[in-house]
Order: sequence, then C-alpha cells, then structure tokens
Amino acid sequence: MQVAVTGSTGFLGGHLCESLLAGGHGVRALARSPDKAAWLQDLGCEVRRADVLDGDALRHALDGADVLVANAALGSWQGDLDAMQRVNVDGVDLSLRMAKAAGVRRVVLISSVAVYQTRLFTPMAEDAPGTDPDKRRFAWRDLTTDWRYAITKTRGEHLAWKLADELDLDLTTVRPGPVYGPRDSKLTARLVSALDRRLVLLPTSGIPLVHAGDVADAVTAALAHPESIGNAYNLAGPPSSPADMVRTLRDLAGRGPVVVPIPAPVRVCFDCGAAERDLGFRPRALREGLAGVI
Ligand SMILES: NC(=O)c1ccc[n+]([C@@H]2O[C@H](COP(=O)([O-])OP(=O)(O)OC[C@H]3O[C@@H](n4cnc5c(N)ncnc54)[C@H](OP(=O)(O)O)[C@@H]3O)[C@@H](O)[C@H]2O)c1
Repeated sequence: MQVAVTGSTGFLGGHLCESLLAGGHGVRALARSPDKAAWLQDLGCEVRRADVLDGDALRHALDGADVLVANAALGSWQGDLDAMQRVNVDGVDLSLRMAKAAGVRRVVLISSVAVYQTRLFTPMAEDAPGTDPDKRRFAWRDLTTDWRYAITKTRGEHLAWKLADELDLDLTTVRPGPVYGPRDSKLTARLVSALDRRLVLLPTSGIPLVHAGDVADAVTAALAHPESIGNAYNLAGPPSSPADMVRTLRDLAGRGPVVVPIPAPVRVCFDCGAAERDLGFRPRALREGLAGVI
C-alpha cells in the first residue's frame, strides 16, 4: 500500500518510515521542512511537503495514498496549550478530513498513554479511566507528563474516533508509553548524556519505556491485520527505572557515572495484551534496545 506518514522528520516518524518500507509498503514522508527528510528520500520514501495546519497541502500530499499514519504532534513541554491544541487537535481534524477528501480510508493515529489518568501499580488496559479533556490546570497526579500534552492528545484521539464514525474511516489508534531509541533527541539523549557525568542521583520508579522500532512495527502489523480496525492499543514495555537505564547504558558503553539510586517505590504499567494478540507486539528487552542506541 501507499502509506503517508505525517511528522516523518521526527523521532518516531523516521522509525515508522523504516518499518513500513521493510513491510513492503510505498512510503510517503510528509514533512513541513522537506530538507529535513533528505535521509528518508535516500531510504526510498517519496517526500512531500505538508504542514498539518495547511488543508490544501495535506490534500495534495495525500492524493493517491491508501493509508494515513497521523503521527505529527507537539510533545510534552514543546509549546503552550494553544500551540498544542492547534497541532494535536486541529491538526488531527484537518489530517483526517483531508484524508477523506483525498480518498484515503485507512488511518492509524499515533496517540499516547497520556490519554489515561495515571494510576500507580495497577496495569492500565485500554478501557482504564481517561484524562479529562477539559482540565485546564496541573494536578499532582500529572507528574508523569505535561498536562497540556495529556489533554490535547486526549482531545485529538476523541476527535479521531468521532471523525472515523462521521466520515466512515477505518481507524486504529496506538498509545505508546515513553518512547526511546536511536535518533531520539529527548528522553534517550538525556539518558545518554548521563554517561558524561561522574555521579548521578536517579529514582528507582518504574517507567514503561518502549522502543520506537517496536511501536513502528506494531503500526505496520496493524495494516496487515484488519481486526485492528476500530481498536485502540497500548504499546508499552515493562517498567524500568531511570537508575537501571543508566546502569545498563554504562555497562554497554564501558564508561559512565556512579549511580546513586533514590528509592521511589512506584511503578506505572500498562496491559498490552490486546496488542500482543492482534499485532504480535513483543517489546524488546531494555538492554537490547539500549545496545542499539550505544
Ligand atoms: N516520544 C514519546 O515519548 C512519545 C510517547 C507517546 C506518544 N508519542 C507520540 O508519537 C508521535 C511522534 O512523537 P515524536 O516523539 O516522534 O515527536 P518529535 O520527534 O517531536 O516529532 C514530531 C513531528 O511532528 C512534526 N510536526 C510538528 N508540528 C507540525 C505541523 N504543524 N505540521 C506538520 N508536522 C508537524 C515535526 O516536524 P518538524 O520535524 O518539522 O519539527 C516532527 O516531524 C506524536 O504523536 C507523539 O504524541 C510520543
């Protein structure tokens, strides 16, 4: 199939393009700055310019595609509420409407586990209580994510389901946990930068990291499995702590800091049984994923 990916120049976007190409699809890398997508063109993607806030450009970029992977977003702490509302909600609205106008029926939305009210210890399945999309302020239970990101990703996913119904689109949504892997300038880069320190103090709290390649492969699998249409899927790994992450990186790199663990006996975990069953989702071990980073 011809698969168009928005946000292809971002961290997960690159992994999505690689996985879709490996799955035998033609990949259209949609980018607001095509210069940044030159490496994707070298991989075999067709690069087209499109900002998700520009309906005409989107419509043109999606023409003749079979599938839209709606991946573009502003991440945590990458903007204020208005900016996130524009990209994470209005951008989803326009992307799905322009997909319909261009004759694209199949859509995969990259959502997030930020759509859940964070619960500690209890594994959250896809029907766990959701973030209140009308919440306007920080609350303590939001310590695990940026509240503006959480509410705009929640609104974006709600809107996608409403539009799928209204426009008769075949929608699947995936909800990754915190994503790590090669080419990540955010979380992974912060962990790797700890290798240059002599001593770090890190909590032992469990965070359900997932490798970008595993998220991308689950999206590619969704396209091969029609039973994924109409479903949302958690994609998260077993919880591991920042202290363990840096210790593992240190072992792999053969250099790094003394890690002083700060006891924080909490863990956030997700039930990924549906993705295991329908998409063959098997998150790789943290050591294997971080070896690729090193
Ligand atoms: N990273 C995580 O831990 C994580 C966890 C759960 C879910 N997710 C979801 O995964 C998706 C990708 O995240 P990421 O970590 O790969 O983020 P990223 O590296 O910041 O990439 C975001 C992409 O969106 C593009 N974008 C932003 N505004 C745009 C606009 N107006 N028009 C077109 N493109 C626009 C960016 O383009 P430029 O390159 O031009 O800036 C970039 O390509 C998002 O939907 C995010 O919510 C991420």
